[in-house]
Amino acid sequence: MRPPLVVGNWKMHGAQTQASTLARAIRRGVKSFRRVEVALAPPFTALGTVGKIIQGSRVELAGQNVYWENEGAFTGEVSPTMLRALGCRFVIVGHSERRRLFNEGDEAIAKKMLASVRAGLRPILCIGETLAERQKRLTYRILSRQLRAGLKGLGKNGIETFEVAYEPVWAIGTGRNASPEQVSEAHRWIRGMLGTLCGKKVAKEIRILYGGSVRPDNAPQLAATEEVNGSLVGGASLRAPDFLRIIRSFASPSARQ
Ligand code: PGA
Repeated sequence: MRPPLVVGNWKMHGAQTQASTLARAIRRGVKSFRRVEVALAPPFTALGTVGKIIQGSRVELAGQNVYWENEGAFTGEVSPTMLRALGCRFVIVGHSERRRLFNEGDEAIAKKMLASVRAGLRPILCIGETLAERQKRLTYRILSRQLRAGLKGLGKNGIETFEVAYEPVWAIGTGRNASPEQVSEAHRWIRGMLGTLCGKKVAKEIRILYGGSVRPDNAPQLAATEEVNGSLVGGASLRAPDFLRIIRSFASPSARQ
């Protein structure tokens, strides 16, 4: 298994000055950590600035969204090749806010996954159930649909070139994170499903990140939870000391001091 991956999803925060200050602090702070990968996903407008600041460091750049065509008359969209040209290695695809607020459906998400992989980006496919779905015991039906749909177009070549983020919608930005039992149960289930879809050998290598109200105080427990291979952090990634403490929880023990 590759090292854990911790991604800071800044969402629609981080105009130029704030973005520079934050990126500089993260770059400095991660120097001593070992065996952990870190990526920052600022808004599109700050990708260039943040990219320059983290250049040559171990911090990677990620897009928060992407379109599936490389160029054309698609006002307001950004293509996978444009993200690559700015130095992005990752891109978040199918975040629940995109699904819910911008009506992104499974079909669009599948296209985004495929276009990202083709452009050489590693998409982070977000999946997760709402509270109502969990209460109706539909969690695994939803995760199954989202996972199958998201990976549908990839074929053999795209396999192993993506990450999965389990983000229960009821835990995002609510301060209410899933319990370690709920997380490990979901992650084990996702691993099993990936085995069915991609083969067991490949499935073992796919990182499954957890996201939803991850904070410095709950990160150590999450990092120690079975089948958790990193985290997608929203709110807490906007404060450098908090984000660094979260990263430290996922770094290998010898480097946590
Ligand atoms: P949160 O967001 O950490 O603010 O809950 C997580 C996410 O949306 O990726």
